[in-house]
Formats: sequence, structure tokens, C-alpha cells
Amino acid sequence: MSSYEAFHRRSIEDRDAFWTEQAMLVDWHRPFDRVCNYDNPPFARWFEGGQTNLCHNAVDRHLSVRGDQNALIFVSTETNAERVYSFRELHLEVQRMAAVLLAQGVKKGDRVLIYMPMIPEAAFAMLACARIGAIHCVVFGGFASHALASRIEDATPVAIVSADAGSRNGKVVPYKPLLDEAIRLSSHKPSSVVMVDRGLEPFVSLPGRDHDYTALREQHLNAQVPCEWLDATDISYTIYTSGTTGKPKGVQRDTGGYAVALAASMKHIFMGEPGETYFSTSDIGWVVGHSYIVYGPLIAGMATIMYEGLPVRPDAGIWWQLVEKYKVSVMFSAPTAVRVLKKHDAAYLQKYDLSSLKALFLAGEPLDEPTATWIADAIGVPIIDNYWQTESGWPILTIANGIEKKRSVFGSPGIPMYGYNVKLLHEATGEELTGADERGVVVVEGPTPPGFMQTVWKDDARFINTYWKSVPGKMVYSTFDWGIRDKNGYYFILGRTDDVINVAGHRLGTREIEESISSHPRIAEVAVVGVADALKGQVAMAFAVVKDAATLGDAAARLALEGEIMKRVDEQLGAVARPARVHFVSLLPKTRSGKMLRRAIQAVCEGRDPGDLTTMDDPSALQQIRDLLA
Ligand code: PRX
Repeated sequence: MSSYEAFHRRSIEDRDAFWTEQAMLVDWHRPFDRVCNYDNPPFARWFEGGQTNLCHNAVDRHLSVRGDQNALIFVSTETNAERVYSFRELHLEVQRMAAVLLAQGVKKGDRVLIYMPMIPEAAFAMLACARIGAIHCVVFGGFASHALASRIEDATPVAIVSADAGSRNGKVVPYKPLLDEAIRLSSHKPSSVVMVDRGLEPFVSLPGRDHDYTALREQHLNAQVPCEWLDATDISYTIYTSGTTGKPKGVQRDTGGYAVALAASMKHIFMGEPGETYFSTSDIGWVVGHSYIVYGPLIAGMATIMYEGLPVRPDAGIWWQLVEKYKVSVMFSAPTAVRVLKKHDAAYLQKYDLSSLKALFLAGEPLDEPTATWIADAIGVPIIDNYWQTESGWPILTIANGIEKKRSVFGSPGIPMYGYNVKLLHEATGEELTGADERGVVVVEGPTPPGFMQTVWKDDARFINTYWKSVPGKMVYSTFDWGIRDKNGYYFILGRTDDVINVAGHRLGTREIEESISSHPRIAEVAVVGVADALKGQVAMAFAVVKDAATLGDAAARLALEGEIMKRVDEQLGAVARPARVHFVSLLPKTRSGKMLRRAIQAVCEGRDPGDLTTMDDPSALQQIRDLLA
């Protein structure tokens, strides 16, 4: 048995001893009494009795040894700003933000929704919430009013922290009007909105509700706000993610388990050392931003780069210039970003001294060989694919070079990480597939490891019903991904089993997009599917039936309606969810019992065989789509 296999086996078979050791990587205010309480499956409660604080572990505990070292490096190529905060400065800013939130009436357990661009105040707000025991709910800044409203409605935040605007490709993207509209749409109204005014876009303030952060901060310049010691099982945050239904789920995470999981992953998987610099190109609105822009690197005592801008502006060298300037040792990005870079000359990347860089981790979507090979040749460091989910909080499949150097296998994110008892189940029978190269659903046998979601916010029943299946003697968590395992134990991910699509590494629910399109007064029915795309991995493609076909008119009228629908999706959900095309058809392919054959539509769009269509009601529906695409 290799050393990694032994490590993994121990994490499953001698679970409590294993995680007790890992738990020593973080500070505890009060030691835990019980490592894992799995008395009530599938709910795993980690480190019961223990008390800790994420902000203490990310900031305060580093002050004595590395107070003057870099902690947060903010670079915006949108506003040409660059600011470096040491741990000491970060500590001050987080306390100021915490004092502001407390003064707004935020208490332990209250929700604070954060709707912000990639600016330091967003990280301050997250850490400030963790500090005072408030639950943060970061909503991706690219989401628009309807998407934001449903999250406000579900999270019922006391306060919202936002900003006047973001900026993308040199264009100001106003946030405040979308936020105002979202609050108007939501039946829950926050009592306070704290606005960070970047001076990018004038906005209207609602007296009594809206407050200017700069002014509030001035009142708390010398704030000393101690960390609130939280139970390990107290909620640290919720983050919304898409699934099969239109209503996004609030993925709920604990405090102690998350701290331990991140600290362990920084050591065993990412191999980041204190004092080094970590650069994740994600956004704080996604799980990667939570785990590997904010908490993971800081917990490990590393500096973290927060970058606002595109990978290719001013030119394709910008990220690599930052690697040189800040001596980045670990970098984390997504295959899509690399495919964008690949359209440019590799010389842009090679212009800089990348000798500090130890590895580039890529996640969020399948990593194709040409992309992996191109970037490996361009930067000359190991490229490490890793597979995980918003739900898991940290990698499920990858290689843990900190334990044992393993080879990367092209097309495979790797092997099960310690703590994860990964299995493949037969789609129909639910039986475990033990042979090599058999296709099944990737599942994790409970208890799920520290850091994994605790439940769906306010909805234990939905957590159980959505994710968990009982198989004799145990419960398993479904990832909703297809996978196969080769004879060496390496897994290959073959796409989602549900209606989730992955556009440029952004996880989107096709049902949400369908709901937005159907809200157009002229649309009777619509099906949205994810279609393979060379650059973005997948794009959303919509097929819509108009209420009165006679009014559809000529090509110009269709184009106008398509434009209207795209605008509607932009305004409601955000440009990330905008379908690449909206095609108009007279009917949609369904089974005789009325079930939409989305998979068949997807197959036709990708030029594949749609498979068994014997249950299809009217074959001409699929033929129409074929003709349209021809
Ligand atoms: O389908 C899998 C795909 O992205 C989904 C999770 O997306 P999200 O919740 O946004 O979390 C991303 C965290 C990195 C998965 O169910 N996915 C993620 N990583 C990979 C992947 N597919 C293939 N290879 C990967 N490395």
C-alpha cells in the first residue's frame, strides 16, 4: 500500500484519530469532546464541544509571528488600484467592519448578505461576520435582481453590505439599482444597507436604511472587537447554489469542521507554506472564493491575492506579472480561464519570472487535454486538476502531493481525498460498482468529512431528499455527477446527472433560466439545455414556444424577440445566465406523460444520437430542432 493509500484508509477506518490530528492545525478556544457525532445520519456533527473562530484562525493568530507580512493583496486592473494589507492592517480593518455591523444591530446568528465586487471590503465583511458570529451569505456580484431577491428572501438578512458598482472590461457595472430592485421584490426587507462607495457610479440612498461605509468606518477607527467564540457546529455561512428545481439551495457550513478541513487541505493538497502567496482567480461569490481566496490561504498564514479584472487585460500577461511581483507559490484557476489565455501567445506568460510558482490547480469543470498541455508547457509547473462542489467546500478528488507525490492522469481529477469514502453506484439498481471502467453516479458514503455542508439552510428535509439515498446499512450522498474509475483507482467525471450546467466554470440551474424566460408575456413554454462549447465548456441554449405562433413574424421579428428574452434574463438573473441562443419552435419534445426530453434536445444540439425515443410523444418536435440547427 502506498503512503497516500494508507493515509486515506486511516481517514476512513480510524476516522476520529485521523481528524483529531488534523484538528491540531487550527487554534481552539475550548477543545472538542467528540470528533464526529453521526448518531443521526446523514447529519455529521464535527468537533462537538469545541469552540473556535474562523476569523481568529485566519487573522488574529498570525499577528504575533507575521503581523507585518502581507495578508491581503488587492489588485484591480479595472480601476487601476493596488493595495496591500498586512495581517496587522487586516486585523484593524476587520475590526472596523465588525464594529460597523454591530452598530447596525447585527448579532450572533444573524445573517448578513454580501453583494459586492472583488474589493477588499468584501473580504473584510466576510471576516467581520465570522468574527462576531454572524452568518454571511455572499451572493455573486454577477447575479441580477431576481436571483438576488430570492436569496434575500431565503436568507432574511438583518443587514446587507454592498457597493455602488463593479467594473468589467473597463465598463462600470452598477450594483445599487439591482440591489434596490431585489429588496423591492423580496418580502423580507433588511433593516440596514451598508454601502461601500467606490465613486464609480452615483446612486440614490434611502435615508434610514442606507449608510455610507466610509462615514461609519470613521466612527470606529480604533475599534477593538474581540472574536466571539463559537461552537464548532455553529453556522459560519450559507452560499446559494443551483440544483434541479428553480429555487436555489442555501448550502450551510459549520465553523470548526470548515476551519480544520481548510487547514488540512492547504497542507496536504495545496502545499502552501506560511509567508508565501496564494493566488486564486475565482470570485468571492463562489465557493472557491470562500475557501481559497479568503479562508484557506489566510488560515495557512499565506498572503492571498484578490484580483478584480480580466485575465487578458491590459494583456494576457497580467496574472503572470502578479505571480512575479508577489512571488505567488500556489495558483488556483478554472479551465475556462486557461482557454481564454490560450487564444493569446504563450510568450505573454513567459515574459515573467514564474520561478516562485509550485503548482497551478484547476477546478470547476472538466479539464481537457489541449488546455492542460498548453498551460503546462507555457508555465512549466505541475497542473493539478481537482474536483469538488459548493456542497463539499474542498476537493473530493485530486492528488495530495503533500502526502505522496502522485502522477496526474490526463482527463482525471484524481483519486478520492482523505475523509471521502467515494463510491460509484449503478444508475438504476443503486448497487455499488466495484469493477474498473464502469459508469455510475459518484457518491460519498456518510459521514461526510469536516468542511462538508451541514444541511440546506432552514430545510433539513430538502437536504435529505435532495442529496441522500439509503442503501442497506448506510447512507450515501449523491454528487449528481457521472463518473468512472479506471483500474488504478483514478476517477473520470463525465458530467451532471441533473439539470445543472456549467458555463465557464459557473454553475447554473437550467430551471432558473427557464423560469426567467417563461416570465416573458409572449412565451408559452421553454426548455433550456447545456450544449458543449469549445471556450466556455458549456453554453445555455433555449428552445421556446411562443403563445401565438402567428405573431412570431419574419426573421427580424424573431431576432427582436430573442433580444428581448436575453435582456430579460440579463436583468433578472444576470449576464452569466444569458442563453447563447433562443430558438423558436412550435412544440417541444416530451414523453407521452408530458416529461420534457431535455437530454434528447441536448444530444441533438451536440450532434449526438439522442438514444431511445420510444416514449416520445411527437417525433416532429425533435426534428424541428434538428432542422433549425442544420
Ligand atoms: O459537475 C461538477 C463540476 O462542477 C460541479 C460543482 O460546481 P460548483 O458547485 O460550482 O463547485 C465548484 C468547486 C470547484 C461538479 O458537480 N466540476 C467541478 N470540478 C470539476 C468538475 N467537473 C470535472 N472536473 C472537475 N475538476
